[in-house]
Amino acid sequence: MAEIKTLAVVGSGQMGSGIAQLGAVHGLDVWLVDTDPDALVRATKSISSSIQRFVSNAHLSQAAGSDALRRLKYTSNLEDLHSVDVVIEAIVESTEVKKKLFSELDKIAKASAILASNTSSISITRLASATSRPCQVIGMHFMNPPPIMKLVEIVRGADTSDETFSLTKALAERFGKIVICSQDYSGFIVNRILMPMINEAFFTLYTGVAMKEDIDAGMKLGTNHPMGPLELADFIGLDVCLSIMRVLHAGLGDNKYAPCPLLVQYVDAGRLGRKRGIGVYDYRKIPEPVKP
Ligand code: NAI
Repeated sequence: MAEIKTLAVVGSGQMGSGIAQLGAVHGLDVWLVDTDPDALVRATKSISSSIQRFVSNAHLSQAAGSDALRRLKYTSNLEDLHSVDVVIEAIVESTEVKKKLFSELDKIAKASAILASNTSSISITRLASATSRPCQVIGMHFMNPPPIMKLVEIVRGADTSDETFSLTKALAERFGKIVICSQDYSGFIVNRILMPMINEAFFTLYTGVAMKEDIDAGMKLGTNHPMGPLELADFIGLDVCLSIMRVLHAGLGDNKYAPCPLLVQYVDAGRLGRKRGIGVYDYRKIPEPVKP
């Protein structure tokens, strides 16, 4: 493939909508796909208000913002993706659900298309095994929120080709990102280190060592982290954190990765973090922070 011109992002939640926005702002024609029509409506609103904020802050011209919005199309029909150059998957963090999607994408996408996953932790080799093109399957792990965070972690599966790697790296750099590369082991680099810390913060709360505010203040002021681990978990989504811990536990086979029972209980109770208005903290009376 000479040049990437068209992109599809599957999953229009907090990550997928941000990745689609990045693609459109950087000149690609973008399809954003979700099985849930309400999620597509939410994505349309959040992308347009995010682009408006970039325009207001003079980080984007009004004309460039309007062009980006025109380049975005929304659909619930995967068949619409038959001619795109790259698909980035950003759906729920479940191996089985993602494998099913990769198998469908393999049948629909053109032969030269790259199939990338924004997975936080799941094996790229395993997702690639659901396709007939494992050399064109790769991990492209954006950080939250994608339009702002500088990093993309690229993960090569066992069969990812050099060409797929180079095109994906060039795409991330076109988006203005700095790339790091990881081998394909559960959690890769960032979540292998971050999630056990968040899990340990839950254990610190669960065992009554300290209050949530003190745990977060300790890590913010004591180690210079911009957010405390419990606050960050609410921002990421407690369901996403739990899924990642389960992948680490199963994939690395060590009990030190067992999810904290309090994290499990919050997810069971539907306390998923900011996106649900309540997680470790209750946001229902606190306004959402303005996302750039
Ligand atoms: P989310 O829950 O905000 O959004 C997921 C979206 O996928 C939902 O709108 C859902 O309707 C849609 N979906 C589910 N199954 C689908 C299917 N088969 N086809 C099309 N759409 C489908 O989740 P979020 O937080 O955006 O995470 C998505 C992925 O990105 C996960 O793999 C997660 O691990 C990863 N990730 C999450 C980060 C975070 O901070 N939340 C950071 C980096 C990666």
